[in-house]
Amino acid sequence: MTDGTAPGSRQPETTPVADEIGDLRVIARDDPPPSGANDLIVMGAASGAILGGIGFAVGLLAGAPLGFYGAALAVGLLSLGVAVRRWITDRFPDIDAVELRPGPEPSGPIADVAPVPRRSFLGRFLAVAAGVLGLGLIAPVVSLGPAPGDALRRTAWRRGSRLVTTDGQPLSPADLSPGGVVTVWPEGAIGDETAAVILLRLSGEPVDPTNGDWVVDSTVVAYSKICTHAGCPVGLFREQDDALFCPCHQSTFDAQRGAIPTFGPTARALPQLPLGVDDEGNLVALGDFTEQVGPAFG
Ligand code: FES
Repeated sequence: MTDGTAPGSRQPETTPVADEIGDLRVIARDDPPPSGANDLIVMGAASGAILGGIGFAVGLLAGAPLGFYGAALAVGLLSLGVAVRRWITDRFPDIDAVELRPGPEPSGPIADVAPVPRRSFLGRFLAVAAGVLGLGLIAPVVSLGPAPGDALRRTAWRRGSRLVTTDGQPLSPADLSPGGVVTVWPEGAIGDETAAVILLRLSGEPVDPTNGDWVVDSTVVAYSKICTHAGCPVGLFREQDDALFCPCHQSTFDAQRGAIPTFGPTARALPQLPLGVDDEGNLVALGDFTEQVGPAFG
């Protein structure tokens, strides 16, 4: 009788089966012995993670140099990595195993190795270290500064604000000839970027959706100069068809029709400034913009 193997072929070495875990057959298992030295390393590294996290948070909040709190964070993360690595190495055995059979996907976990029993203090201390380091990483939140509130939704325009040029000269409707265009600001807030306005005398009377109550002398209108795409100044005007252009990405706005976009990447019209004339004949704002200026948010 034969055992079915070819004569002279080498027989695989048989290794005593020690155990079966899931779909694996364990052929050797090496449980790490309790090691006080390893425990000390875990404790030391976890302590380093705690100190690193605290150093990072305190350094950042106290305005320390970047090199200081950056180094503290690096030490914290490195120490935590070392601590976790050594903790796991000490708790899980070194196993050599083979799959019981090839074939379809395993139905459960390939292996479910029970950790070696150890004191639970180290695990808890490691969790504390990770928690402290994690809390330290929250510190950069304060560098976001105070919440802006509605500051981004308001500009310096108020009811009665006179429209003035960059030189501070007030304007009357007569100062604008057909096709005339000028950048204006609220008096007292020259250079305030969110309040920049482009004042126009159109070639014809504006139509919807222009707000007719905010048109002066039939053809004088004012729009926010901040492009609603990405915030560039809308600085070009074509008199023939009353078109405003943004030079950044070529968005085009129809100034006769409420500055709605007619070309380019933006999807919103330029907000129209409520415009009027005061008792002295100067152009004034009747209030702030009723829409958010610039690119949309929130
Ligand atoms: S910022 Fe005006 S088109 Fe992009």
